[in-house]
Amino acid sequence: MKIAASERLKKLTTGIFTELANKKRDAINKGIDIIDLSVGSPDMTPSAYVVDALVEHSKDLTKYGYTLKGIDEFNEAVAHFYKKRYEVELNPHDEVLQLMGSQDGLSHLATAIVNPGEYVLVPDPGYPIYEASVTLAGGNVYPMPLLEENGYLPKLDEIPLEILQKTKMMIISYPGNPVTALANVSFFEEVVTFARKNNILVVHDFAYSELIFDSHPQISFMSVPGAKEVGIEFNSLSKTFNMAGCRIGYVVGNPETLSILAALKSHIDYGIFYPIQMAAVTALTSDYSVLDEQVIEYETRRDVLISGLAQAGWQVAKSPATMFVWAKIPSGWTSREFAFTLIEEAGVAVVPGDAFGKLGEGYVRMALVQSSEKLAEAAKRIEQFLRKNNQKPK
Ligand SMILES: Cc1ncc(COP(=O)(O)O)c(C=O)c1O
Repeated sequence: MKIAASERLKKLTTGIFTELANKKRDAINKGIDIIDLSVGSPDMTPSAYVVDALVEHSKDLTKYGYTLKGIDEFNEAVAHFYKKRYEVELNPHDEVLQLMGSQDGLSHLATAIVNPGEYVLVPDPGYPIYEASVTLAGGNVYPMPLLEENGYLPKLDEIPLEILQKTKMMIISYPGNPVTALANVSFFEEVVTFARKNNILVVHDFAYSELIFDSHPQISFMSVPGAKEVGIEFNSLSKTFNMAGCRIGYVVGNPETLSILAALKSHIDYGIFYPIQMAAVTALTSDYSVLDEQVIEYETRRDVLISGLAQAGWQVAKSPATMFVWAKIPSGWTSREFAFTLIEEAGVAVVPGDAFGKLGEGYVRMALVQSSEKLAEAAKRIEQFLRKNNQKPK
């Protein structure tokens, strides 16, 4: 018997990530020592008091059943966090929905909201699940170009009217992955006006809300007047509290949208392990000093990498936020050639930019998930690589 994947699944482009994983494995098999800057999984650890909460609650043998949904304490902790960090008031009863990581919500939302043939506006370059989730739902993607000359903000007035008439939702992310740019309040206000006018649900992915550098303001889309009427915001404990493996996140905002997503989830999952929920409550209601320390660590790493690359003659823009550097590559290479040759010849793994959309061509993404020492070494290896290949970066 031959089993085939569905046509929708076949449409998903996982090719580059598979190729990257193969190249890394081949290099490791050849004995090459790899500095891996390709995976966006934090190398830092959660606070001891968060781990203690997880351990303590795990000892309670009455807590091993299905939780079915987020406990009240979790929703209240998210509301508390949003108030303290972003000055946003949330009703914990209907404006917070727990997720198995924000990926859970991002991957299922289109299935809950979009009908076959309807459009979703998606950033290009953008985090791959945005497009994949729409494809799986049978919807159509309309890519919104994020160009450096526009501050990586989409030009909403350039989207054709015939597309807007068939558009159900739009996805934006500031700061995002791989593009680390920030938006200002006036852009978010423009988005609210645009969404109201065209009857489009706004989805803001704020997964890197606590990795914002150089004292830039942390602007939640929810803080803009009218945002809750037109939109929702995904957030997560993965990067903020280094709990990526715990798979716990949430979405806040428009109550009708949250209840639609909750209805779909009620068919799909049975909730998150209670001790993980309580560990998340502990993290969300802590004193947040760890967040400031973490920002300093990532800023230092970013500066070490960027200045090391500058010494190598490669001028790369400083990320204002996130755990990534989005680097325009030297001319004469495609993103894939550059990334794959870098693994083989320098033992440094980065992601080719076209993994994130057509407009990612000409870039690579480097994750700041290694110590400053390792990042300095990676920059040295890149310097030798560029010299050997006689490349003069732009
Ligand atoms: C932009 C962005 N959104 C969402 C996620 C998903 O994170 P999680 O499901 O761990 O909350 C990631 C993970 O890397 C991401 O980069």
